[in-house]
Amino acid sequence: MDKIRIHGPCRLQGRVRASGAKNAVLPEMAATLLVDGPVTLRNVPVVRDVQTMIKVLRHLGARRVSLDGDVLRVEGGAAGEPEAPYDLVRTMRASILVLGPLLARLGRARVSLPGGCAIGARPIDYHIEALRRMGAAIEIEHGFVVASSPRLKGAEIVFAERTVTGTENVMMAAVLAEGRTVLKNCALEPEVTDLARFLNACGARIEGAGTGRIVIEGVERLRGTEHRVIPDRIEAGTFLIAAAATQSAVTVERCDPTHLETVLDKLQECGVVLRVDGDAIGVGKDGPLRGVNVTTRPYPDFPTDLQAQFMALMTRAEGVSIITETVFENRFLHVGELRRMGARIVVDGQTAIVAGPAPLSGAPVMASDLRASACLIVAGLSAEGETVINRAYHIDRGYEKVETKFQTLGARIERIGG
Ligand code: EPZ
Repeated sequence: MDKIRIHGPCRLQGRVRASGAKNAVLPEMAATLLVDGPVTLRNVPVVRDVQTMIKVLRHLGARRVSLDGDVLRVEGGAAGEPEAPYDLVRTMRASILVLGPLLARLGRARVSLPGGCAIGARPIDYHIEALRRMGAAIEIEHGFVVASSPRLKGAEIVFAERTVTGTENVMMAAVLAEGRTVLKNCALEPEVTDLARFLNACGARIEGAGTGRIVIEGVERLRGTEHRVIPDRIEAGTFLIAAAATQSAVTVERCDPTHLETVLDKLQECGVVLRVDGDAIGVGKDGPLRGVNVTTRPYPDFPTDLQAQFMALMTRAEGVSIITETVFENRFLHVGELRRMGARIVVDGQTAIVAGPAPLSGAPVMASDLRASACLIVAGLSAEGETVINRAYHIDRGYEKVETKFQTLGARIERIGG
């Protein structure tokens, strides 16, 4: 069932709940490898990447990994061979997040190089350089990262560029290292902060998460705990953008508006009426949208993971919008598909210039990656006629029951086979 069919244009109406954050729960699942004792994670999104990480943990010998609704129970660290195989890592690059925990807990690890993906080369040199500074011997052999270290030692590390999983991998390695580790130029994403909160609840000593400078005092062991995963800001942002693109009145519940401040500012700048009330954000029906310029940058600036979805919105806005992607080198794969639906977009290097409004018409389109598929759903909802999104399995990596959630808002959207 890897196609999604949408009959547009759709008027959405009602309330939808954000699920837990995929990019928080993945490092937290990897972090269970560090922990002696049972861990319970709540508000876990039931998405394909979580299922893949469950396979990785089981492959590494975790005694118990069970997902019951949105509750994930893990016990047992890494009892087996500390190797994350190619056939698992290639389906999910975030598997590289087991490297730091395995090295810290077992003193050795063999993790397939994640390789690139549709949006870019996605190197992990910053991860490797940092772990080497902590005393790890790391070689790249036959497509694998082969790492070993008697016991990692605390070090001072300055990341050449802000890296989310790089910060997470090294922070996890440092919690069991000997002595103090100081990380500088760290990623500020809320998912990094949530991981630190989880690790500290297990007995780690991490200070400064959410700032550019994180200090970790190594401890001997971590004990089990219970932790509630933060809401998914990218999923919430996707629903807000879809509501704005269809001129609908929708409320997204159980999200964290403080994680979306730059996105909410941009939506208001282009004329969307918003109402924030605790953990709920409402989008109101309103007049014409104005084109605005967006540049993606690391948190707290506009997230690269909402760039494609926002571009679909800008096709409806009056005037010209200039969208600049600064995080990944190849994140305009959705432009060709939007053009086939009637969008007027010109790409010049890392900048896309969108002329609007361009009424979109439904068409068969191809999803290339997780967020590009979300963009095509937004476009299909606002287009005239039928849109069929091929390779829709991309969306299932990071959006829980996406068509069900949009159906509850009144969209004519369904999963079809073939
Ligand atoms: C995380 O990827 C997210 N994934 C991505 O979400 C997100 O787009 C990205 O951060 C940026 O916010 C997870 O958290 C699982 P980076 P990550 O390291 O950590 C370069 C989604 O759709 N770099 O912050 O892989 C890199 O090429 C996904 O949910 C190096 O050069 O991204 C990029 O240009 C897509 N060497 C920049 O840094 C390194 O060792 C930022 O990448 C590491 C990164």
